Amino acid sequence: MDFRLGAAAAALTLSLTSGAALAGDIESGASAFQSQCQNCHNVMNEEGDVLAGRPNVRTGPNLYGIIGRQAGIEEFRYGASLVEAGEEGLVWDEEEMVAYLLDPQGYLRERLDSNRARSQMSFRVRDEATARDVIAFLAQFGAPAEDEAEDGADEDENSEG
Ligand code: HEC
Repeated sequence: MDFRLGAAAAALTLSLTSGAALAGDIESGASAFQSQCQNCHNVMNEEGDVLAGRPNVRTGPNLYGIIGRQAGIEEFRYGASLVEAGEEGLVWDEEEMVAYLLDPQGYLRERLDSNRARSQMSFRVRDEATARDVIAFLAQFGAPAEDEAEDGADEDENSEG
């Protein structure tokens, strides 16, 4: 287990957007997304195609491209704490998102070192394995295909949004 996690983390650090396999199981993640996330979130690409979940679900932000995305930058009325965490450098990777999903408010409090930090996501995933599965599922959407990632055309400064 240590080896797998270490390898996944290393792969993530080296090439966040190369579609490297994560620790979780995509199929379990798909059903966990359905039962636990899609009441509030969907995954919609730039063309407006809904890739996971249902159309017109706006209780939570669009999760397209969430792995490798700065926190709090979708068109959404986020809470101030999540936006602040993003501005201070929070970019979602597997480890950060596991911690967030298990306890969103606790995570933000620790991250911002303030017990006044608040999360507007009033939901938490019960166990780490499920969190990793959902993340593996979500990581499929928005990362460029592996061969495209090679030329690394526009990795930085993609902050329009
Ligand atoms: C009850 C509604 C609800 C459920 C269920 C829910 N979320 Fe959320 N989620 C939200 C809201 C609202 C926010 C915005 C939080 C804020 O502004 O503080 C959010 C934020 C997030 C973010 C940060 C997004 C960003 O742009 O930085 C992620 C990642 C996320 N949710 C993943 C999930 C996953 C994965 C699940 C299922 C396991 C899930 N959420 C279940 C409502 C929900």
